Amino acid sequence: MTIIVLALTGYLLGSIPFGIILTRLFGAGDLRQIGSGNIGATNVLRTGRKELAAATLILDGAKGAVAVLLARQFLPELGQDGAMIAGAAAMIGHCYPVWLKFRGGKGVATLLGLSLALAWPIGVVFAVVWLAAALLSRISSLGGMVGAVSAPVAALALGYPVYATGLAGLAVIVLWRHRENIARLRAGTEPRIGSKKDKAA
Ligand code: G3P
Repeated sequence: MTIIVLALTGYLLGSIPFGIILTRLFGAGDLRQIGSGNIGATNVLRTGRKELAAATLILDGAKGAVAVLLARQFLPELGQDGAMIAGAAAMIGHCYPVWLKFRGGKGVATLLGLSLALAWPIGVVFAVVWLAAALLSRISSLGGMVGAVSAPVAALALGYPVYATGLAGLAVIVLWRHRENIARLRAGTEPRIGSKKDKAA
């Protein structure tokens, strides 16, 4: 396997839109017409199907983790660089999938999955910061963005400079993909998890 095949495999893996597949498969409606229109677990939750939201979160995370594990398995000589490239390719696939005319998700779950696979302590910091920020604010997008930004900081603090650089780039993509959420946060109109406005959003 070459680095190009690895990156392409990571991208194709990441581009599988599990949120759309699961909601269609189990009759939960058209995600694009619900809530924020995003394909991620938060929006699946707005369909009222908690189990589908949980499955979307796990599968979107698994895409990132599997890409990293494939790099370790098939191109171990590339070390941290190979793992980072494969994980990044999966996240780019999730955010810009060819099947959806490059209009994909916001990257938080896939970034969490690949962070856990790169070095589990980075992923644990990400998950804890994400959950704490989301629970305290009751705003999913805010939790996701704060969690994503915590990943490169944790990588640097834990002694993984290669991962810190790669994760910083991916955190920028997460923030870019949340630009509509950021505008709503600034306007004070971003819905809180479980609120009436959130369900109707
Ligand atoms: O991971 C996506 C989340 O951060 C925001 O989703 O649907 O509220 O825009 P949504």
